[in-house]
Amino acid sequence: MAEVVTFAKEGSVGVITVNNPPVNALSQAVRAGIKAGIAKGMAEADVSAMVIICDGRTFIAGADIREFGKPPMEPHLPDVCQFIEDCPKPVVAAIHGTALGGGLEIPLSCHFRIAVATAKVGLPEVKLGLLPGAGGTQRLPRVAGVQAALEMITSGTPVAAAKAKAMGILDEIVDGDLKAAALAFARKAVDEKLPLRRVSRLAAKLDTPTVFEDFAKANARKFRGFLAPYKCIESVKNAAELPFAEGMKKEREIFLELQASDQSKAQRHVFFAEREVVRIPGLPDDQPTRAITSVGVLGAGTMGGGIAMCFANAGIPVKLLDVKQDFLDKGLAIIQKNYANTVAKGSLKQEVMDKRMSLIQPTLAYEDLKDVDLVIEAVFEDMAIKKEVFTKLDAVCKPGAILASNTSYLNIDDIAAITRRPQDVMGMHFFSPANVMRLLENVRGARTSPDVYATAMKIGKTIGKVPVLVGVCDGFVGNRMLAKRTRECGFMLEEGALPWQIDKVIYNFGFPMGPYQMGDMAGLDIGWRNRKAKFSTLSDREKKNTILDKICEMGHFGQKTGSGFYKYDEKRNATPDPMIEELIINHSKDVGITRRTITDQEIVERAIYSMINEGAKILEEGIAARPLDIDVVWLYGYGFPVYLGGPMFYADTIGLGKVYDAILKYRDLVGAEYWTPSPLLEKLAKAGKGFYSK
Ligand code: 3HC
Ligand code: NAI
Repeated sequence: MAEVVTFAKEGSVGVITVNNPPVNALSQAVRAGIKAGIAKGMAEADVSAMVIICDGRTFIAGADIREFGKPPMEPHLPDVCQFIEDCPKPVVAAIHGTALGGGLEIPLSCHFRIAVATAKVGLPEVKLGLLPGAGGTQRLPRVAGVQAALEMITSGTPVAAAKAKAMGILDEIVDGDLKAAALAFARKAVDEKLPLRRVSRLAAKLDTPTVFEDFAKANARKFRGFLAPYKCIESVKNAAELPFAEGMKKEREIFLELQASDQSKAQRHVFFAEREVVRIPGLPDDQPTRAITSVGVLGAGTMGGGIAMCFANAGIPVKLLDVKQDFLDKGLAIIQKNYANTVAKGSLKQEVMDKRMSLIQPTLAYEDLKDVDLVIEAVFEDMAIKKEVFTKLDAVCKPGAILASNTSYLNIDDIAAITRRPQDVMGMHFFSPANVMRLLENVRGARTSPDVYATAMKIGKTIGKVPVLVGVCDGFVGNRMLAKRTRECGFMLEEGALPWQIDKVIYNFGFPMGPYQMGDMAGLDIGWRNRKAKFSTLSDREKKNTILDKICEMGHFGQKTGSGFYKYDEKRNATPDPMIEELIINHSKDVGITRRTITDQEIVERAIYSMINEGAKILEEGIAARPLDIDVVWLYGYGFPVYLGGPMFYADTIGLGKVYDAILKYRDLVGAEYWTPSPLLEKLAKAGKGFYSK
């Protein structure tokens, strides 16, 4: 038997122990080991029952995702599960940690399941673009009912032991030593001749005949664009309608189909990318970091308030500084309201809210920041003000304190240079709303010390963010790429498209909303201010593309003023505005462009490929160390569809050759100034390679 699984006799009970760190994933050796353990227990006369248990931090966390894409090796998991279920002697699963995916399908094939109170069980395959492929869609509805199974399988969210027991998934929750309890349970099963509960022989209970349609309809928004949830529903339906063996056969077919799909490849890429992103090339795993036990936040506005909440939520005290008591009062009132809304929804206890509020201490005095370990500045986006603020921080903060800026575009190196400690200065770019959005773009300056940015990555994780390390450039990774999309969409408006056409195409591509809906929501004045600040750096064509200026000059700033690119009713429902259509058509005339039909495909290509090309330049310049850093920025900061894996992974899926050809086509159409392929992209495309297969 392979050493990752051991078999030991404890009296008359055979104990099969899995020990495959870090998470006991079901590699081929583990599958073979479990099967061999059951076979041994069956064969030995003095073994009357068996227990499957795991060493380490968790019960089996699922199939070994790293084996996907390789030729499948026997024994296959569904066969191992069936072998367990068919065992004539009682088999008890003893669960701690997280029993996920195949790690729950094995227990569902055991005759009994017990767990410690802190355990969780779930079928998260859908998050990898899959469905449970070892009987999960067939056995769970037979144990927990169709409705509960649909919810668990299509959400992928694990449930806690108590709930799992109430759902019928667990037989018992145990206190104290799990192994001792499992042995006792196994002996009881033998002594009391408990009937072996073979789940495949039960019927899947249907609550209402229309449950499948109703469920798909109710979740249409959540499932939009994803393949796997619909396949999960189909397979659970099979459990209710077909004999077990047929349902299993179909589940296997669907599993293999999904496993080979671009969506699942993309979602598996995302799973590993979000874990890899915190490992910084060139830094050792044991890189020292600085302790962060208190934080200062400058500016109690939109971003400062949200950032203060992030730290308070993690139990870290915050000094929140602004220039006037009024601004502090206003900022704190918004924080208070945000928390109160969460309390009202029942997702936060009043006492937890009170504790968090008490951790945020308002102040007008820089002196109060003298002891904090980290300061994040979120004052107005103006270099003169930033420099003034950093000069003050440099004077007052203790040596070793990290001084970070939340700037969206400004040069971190210029800010650092104003201080006597550039090694301690960096960017920590949160996204709005800062207490909600998961992305944190950590910007390392030319002189930022490694222990400083390593600390920013670590504290980012502590406050529940997905931190990505990037370098200094205009707009960093996210906003720099976004600017290219914005520019190209602006050109397409001039050439013949309308905002609602572009929005619809981008929405259908999988983004939560289109660029003009987004602009209206964020406030068009933000983009307008930014355009004015950058005006001298714009090309002639961009300077003359005054559509945004014209809309803003009328005081139409989007949702907050009731009109922007769209018109809004009092409930903020948007409708296309004929006045804007006329304005755009007249603008085309004014700049001498004859409008033409722009196809949806052209919109996708120009909006997305312009970003991919910029992403390639970002890689070339070393602003992002790896394509996965760019993908994670777009997935977590801008709602790039997860099932496409991020812009760089998506480019590989299309094929860089095709992207390159399209870039050349738009170079001829729009101009080399905007559409010159990045040398990296060109090189990879010509070599038939991708960003991930260099
Ligand atoms: N296969 C291979 N490696 C896995 C893995 C898996 N199923 N699950 C986790 N790992 C690896 C991670 O990549 C990471 O490796 P690294 O240290 O080299 O980066 C390491 O294990 C630790 O993982 P985390 O950093 O995520 O550790 P946490 O303690 O935060 O979380 C966990 C543990 C909750 C188990 C989390 O890792 C997780 O959710 N894993 C995925 C579970 C899953 O999706 N299971 C279903 C697999 S598909 C399946 O079972 C198909 C079947 O139906 C046929
Ligand atoms: P805001 O206008 O809502 O808040 C700025 C706050 O800073 C105000 O309360 C103001 O009184 C205060 N302030 C101004 N000068 C100050 C000083 N010298 N000392 C202390 N406080 C001062 O601005 P917002 O939107 O919160 O932006 C702040 C920073 O965050 C900017 O650099 C912006 O580019 C960046 N950012 C903004 C995002 C957004 O979506 N709003 C997203 C990501 C970054």
